[in-house]
Amino acid sequence: MSDTDHAHGSVFGDGASALSRRGFLTGAGLGVAGVAGFAAMPPGDAHGDAIPNHIVPFDGPHQAGITTAAQDRMHFVSLDVLAGTTREDLQEMLRTWTAMARRMTQGLEAVEDGAVGGGQYAVAPDTGEALDLPAANLTITIGFGPSLFDERFGLAAAKPAELNDLPHFSGDMLNEAISRGDICLQACADDPQVAVHAVRVLIKEGTGKVAVRWSQLGFGRTSSTTQAQATPRNLFGFKDGTNNLKVEDENLVNEHVWVHAPGQWMDGGSYLITRRIRMLIENWDRQVLKDQEETFGRDKLEGAPLGRTHEFDELPLDEYVGTDGPVIPADAHARLAHHSENNGARMLRRGYNFIDGSDGFGHLDAGLFFIAFVADPDKDFIPVQSKLAKGDKMNEYVRYESSAIFACPGGVTGEKDYWGSKLFEQTA
Ligand code: HEM
Repeated sequence: MSDTDHAHGSVFGDGASALSRRGFLTGAGLGVAGVAGFAAMPPGDAHGDAIPNHIVPFDGPHQAGITTAAQDRMHFVSLDVLAGTTREDLQEMLRTWTAMARRMTQGLEAVEDGAVGGGQYAVAPDTGEALDLPAANLTITIGFGPSLFDERFGLAAAKPAELNDLPHFSGDMLNEAISRGDICLQACADDPQVAVHAVRVLIKEGTGKVAVRWSQLGFGRTSSTTQAQATPRNLFGFKDGTNNLKVEDENLVNEHVWVHAPGQWMDGGSYLITRRIRMLIENWDRQVLKDQEETFGRDKLEGAPLGRTHEFDELPLDEYVGTDGPVIPADAHARLAHHSENNGARMLRRGYNFIDGSDGFGHLDAGLFFIAFVADPDKDFIPVQSKLAKGDKMNEYVRYESSAIFACPGGVTGEKDYWGSKLFEQTA
């Protein structure tokens, strides 16, 4: 499978009729053994509809959910491994999780007949709320936090030098309760219930071994990760993702997203960084358009750089308006985050909007759950975030409330493989 296959597997029109988990098993007349051949099946299911491919391949050299065309919904959870859990328990849980995740991403129940098949007196391994729903491009991506590499599980020797808690950036107002964690699961799908179900079932399976540290729901992607996707808007009303790395930028993605460490467990992996960024939308909504556009250095309607007309025009970073200063203001977000201002640093952004009720002071608790994937946090993320923390005009309107970093291993390669297998082999 090529680096781009995960993304291609998921770019399909929304109008196609969906195939539910049960429909898949009964209508298509397939058992689990038939699943692997699904992609190769001729079009047309038992109902005579064209088979929509809402399935993102699970196996591959990289985990899905990174360069996969960003889905519309997300459920992200950070977990702590509970005291008393052994290395073997952890390994066993990861094996089961992988098998369940593989099935769920194919639109199947987490285990065969998992919701009701055990009968009236069994506790069901599948909670059932996705029974009638299609795969909806579900991807589940796992990452391991720096704390997993302490003395508990014999993994310390394999802790990558790149995997360290992020430094404190100026202006950070972090809440420890929603920062960090031993393990993360990022579930993205085009149906919110599919993403929530996937995370919930895995947490249930991990009962007694892991506990939820924090969790974040996201609606509305705030970036595009393929050229075929239209650029969405964030809650400030601006197009977000225009200059993001896209899966088609194969060389740049190879350099800035995927880890190259032959023989090491992180080969083919990526570092996932999260920052929950509260947006002070009430302040923002009272600003005039000019101020808003100067904050980003782009116009609101088209998303074009100031001084240009089209969204994908290059930012005129070296142009001046007479004596009025640069066309793209010195403190504009797009200027400060641009690779030319950061020694070539680039990242793949994959964040989501959130609104989590009220802040208790009469405002919406709204913002952007920022997610970036990078090959090297020290090179591709920390310098950019440092620069933004010090000088970004956007800082007037945001608060950085949480921070986390996770090492996402390369993809799994078949039913015998499981999430983190190479990490355990390397530390055996
Ligand atoms: C609430 C938080 C944020 C908002 C609303 C926001 C919004 C935007 C917008 C509207 C753009 C211009 C369109 C585009 O090229 O995508 C942009 C660009 C960008 N942002 Fe952010 N952003 C936020 C946080 C961050 C953070 C925390 C980082 C990294 C530390 C970051 C990195 C970038 C990068 C690398 C670009 C592309 C710059 C370029 O090459 O032109 N952003 N952002």
